[in-house]
Amino acid sequence: MGKNETRAINFLRGVPSEEALSHLIPMVAEGYEKVIRQYGTQVLQYGHFTGFKPLRELIANLHHVDPERIVAGNGGLEVISLFFKSLPLQSNVIVEEVTYDRVLLDAKRYGHNMIGVKLTPEGVDLDQFRDVVKKTEPAAFYGIPFHQNPTGINYTDENRKAVESICQEHNILCVWDVCYQDLRYDGKANGAIDVSEWGPILTSSFTKTISPGTKCGYIIVPKDYVEHLIGIVANTRINPNLPTQAFIADFIQSGWYDDYLGYLRELYRPRMDALNTAFNTHFPGASPVEISGGFFAPLTLGDISVDNESAFVKSAKDAGVGIAPAWNAVAPNFKEELQGKGLFIRLTFPAFQPNDIEWGISKLKETIELFS
Ligand SMILES: Cc1ncc(COP(=O)(O)O)c(C=O)c1O
Repeated sequence: MGKNETRAINFLRGVPSEEALSHLIPMVAEGYEKVIRQYGTQVLQYGHFTGFKPLRELIANLHHVDPERIVAGNGGLEVISLFFKSLPLQSNVIVEEVTYDRVLLDAKRYGHNMIGVKLTPEGVDLDQFRDVVKKTEPAAFYGIPFHQNPTGINYTDENRKAVESICQEHNILCVWDVCYQDLRYDGKANGAIDVSEWGPILTSSFTKTISPGTKCGYIIVPKDYVEHLIGIVANTRINPNLPTQAFIADFIQSGWYDDYLGYLRELYRPRMDALNTAFNTHFPGASPVEISGGFFAPLTLGDISVDNESAFVKSAKDAGVGIAPAWNAVAPNFKEELQGKGLFIRLTFPAFQPNDIEWGISKLKETIELFS
């Protein structure tokens, strides 16, 4: 940093690190050229509207399902949105008390009523889940079982399977968004989710594991849901970006994808460690779990009330730390309760150097002290 530059960090946008994307450039350049030459007009023309067949076959193989059950699209959010579009308008949908903000915003467009259920360090509160199922007859549940956005919680197998069996018993479409499954940095690996004929539905994305710019994601639905979903896909966007899907299929098949995931885990581990250390030092107890992977971590700042949150965010910005209230990520029925506990924020870490993370969190702590 030059002498006159002021130090700053923006904890808001969960983007892959620039180094990681730069590391990818030669592989992406080579991969796209290879598949354009190999598949030619097949990937430049209309077609494959449920996704590039070789990619669907690879994904099917990974999850041990029939490729017919897979729709590969332009990103995780697109396929999630297509799924929400496929539900009857104004359906009841269960979500975690805090979740991926865009899911809440998108589902609202279809008039769905999003009902939050409490999260514990093991997953959702099962008693509350059963209670909401009984009272609201939901059409679907959407959850993020690995390195949950924004809490960082990793569901236990038992909790996840209990949710699945309640959903199966009550005919609720159970959707697990597994886009952070492979992004675990603590040296352990997340187990696989078994997909059987009824479900659960899985959705994922290559945004955080390859690149947001290439924009590719997929959803695996039950066989008897495929035709209904395909009707929605065909009316919405005909085919997805086929050169990208061909590139990703080749990237996986060549073994480069697995190597790259290994590289990301190494790159992001010290950043995660720095975040955990800084949280434990400056904000003990303000986040529900130690972060073990993914892209996000939450903080509840008990000293900052709704009335002074704007002033606090401004002071943090003046001190060089970009943060924002994360109320968009809170299910409507939890907003009041969470607002009563203090300012809720979501921070991201993979794009930053460990010393900047440590600096940003300590600055945040100093700023709070001015308000308490
Ligand atoms: C839980 C979750 N699902 C989906 C997405 C979006 O993925 P995509 O960029 O592929 O639409 C994100 C991005 O942050 C996410 O956190």
